[in-house]
Amino acid sequence: MTRGMFDTRLAPGFGIAKHACASVVGMKAITYSTYGNPDVLEYGDQPMPKVGPGMVLVKVKTAAVNPVDWKIMAGGLDAIMDLQFPAIPGWDVAGVVESVGIDARQFQPGDEVIAYGRKDYVHGGSFAEYIALPERLLARKPASLGWTEAAGLPLAGLTAYQVLNRLGLKAGETVLIHGGSGGVGSLGIQIAVAMGASVIATSSQKNHEFLRSLGAEPVAYGEGLAERVHGLRPDGADVVADFVGGNLEATLAVLAEGGRHASIADSAVEQHGGDWMWVNPVGADLQALADLVDSRKIRVEVAEVFPLDKAADAFRANMEGHTRGKIVVAVDHNS
Ligand SMILES: NC(=O)c1ccc[n+]([C@@H]2O[C@H](COP(=O)([O-])OP(=O)(O)OC[C@H]3O[C@@H](n4cnc5c(N)ncnc54)[C@H](OP(=O)(O)O)[C@@H]3O)[C@@H](O)[C@H]2O)c1
Repeated sequence: MTRGMFDTRLAPGFGIAKHACASVVGMKAITYSTYGNPDVLEYGDQPMPKVGPGMVLVKVKTAAVNPVDWKIMAGGLDAIMDLQFPAIPGWDVAGVVESVGIDARQFQPGDEVIAYGRKDYVHGGSFAEYIALPERLLARKPASLGWTEAAGLPLAGLTAYQVLNRLGLKAGETVLIHGGSGGVGSLGIQIAVAMGASVIATSSQKNHEFLRSLGAEPVAYGEGLAERVHGLRPDGADVVADFVGGNLEATLAVLAEGGRHASIADSAVEQHGGDWMWVNPVGADLQALADLVDSRKIRVEVAEVFPLDKAADAFRANMEGHTRGKIVVAVDHNS
């Protein structure tokens, strides 16, 4: 039986054939078949993903690199997430709906979409020409973003959006953002500004002008950070969002009386009244964020774009730890 076709003798009456994508038999993708560094990545042919009930097939225009991609590839999440080799990495995607599975009703072929495409196990990711996703993960692509920028929004943007909402950031409050120039931080600054907050953010000196352009007051990270923040706000910060890790001491030192804090990269915050958070792949949240992006003209900074067959170089660039904004992989050359 051809992959992607359905044998109706095994389950007569399902009438699934019209949903199977038999016209395209294979696709180009990046895979790895063992845990390791970017040298394990291979570019080649893979079978088309199957499109189950409630799922949609997306023709990928662009995908974005996140640190979690290479952390998973190195085996760092093996204790908590199943992975099936050969694995196609990538959780961030922007593309066009190609076809829909049985009873998928929210999206139609031709719709322009974005997704934080984290599934229950790691296998069919976005560094490929096609990806099949449950439609509950999808949102409509913000019209104000091009394809290159759109892929950089979902994972990093949702992370910042969910953290700042969980912390109940309010208009008029001061928030300190650790890591303001990275993927999460650069979107976090703009989301916090859109929420009416006053934002202080950390980065190296070379990114201070960038932070100002996003609406934050920049401070250098490292030794003396708490003093620098107190120099700007003698009463401290109402909210601290740690988008880097390893900042607990400074966070506690600058937090105002009754302040709230969270980290996405430091479980130790839990012992000190903070939230250790993991971004949740919720399409409805992503849609709310996409709408905010369109209405407030939130931008996605893209540091560098790589073609799909150079995805290993995209990983290497992000692993240096100093990406300004996002690194994007252009899967469709016309995007
Ligand atoms: N828990 C979750 O749900 C979740 C979600 C997303 C990300 N994460 C994690 O959060 C971290 C950040 O993710 P990301 O996507 O934003 O990474 P990223 O884009 O690769 O971050 C790069 C940025 O980090 C900055 N940076 C490096 N060291 C810093 C320090 N000590 N203080 C302040 N900024 C520093 C760099 O600024 P300079 O060049 O100016 O030094 C650079 O702009 C990663 O560890 C990632 O795995 C967790």
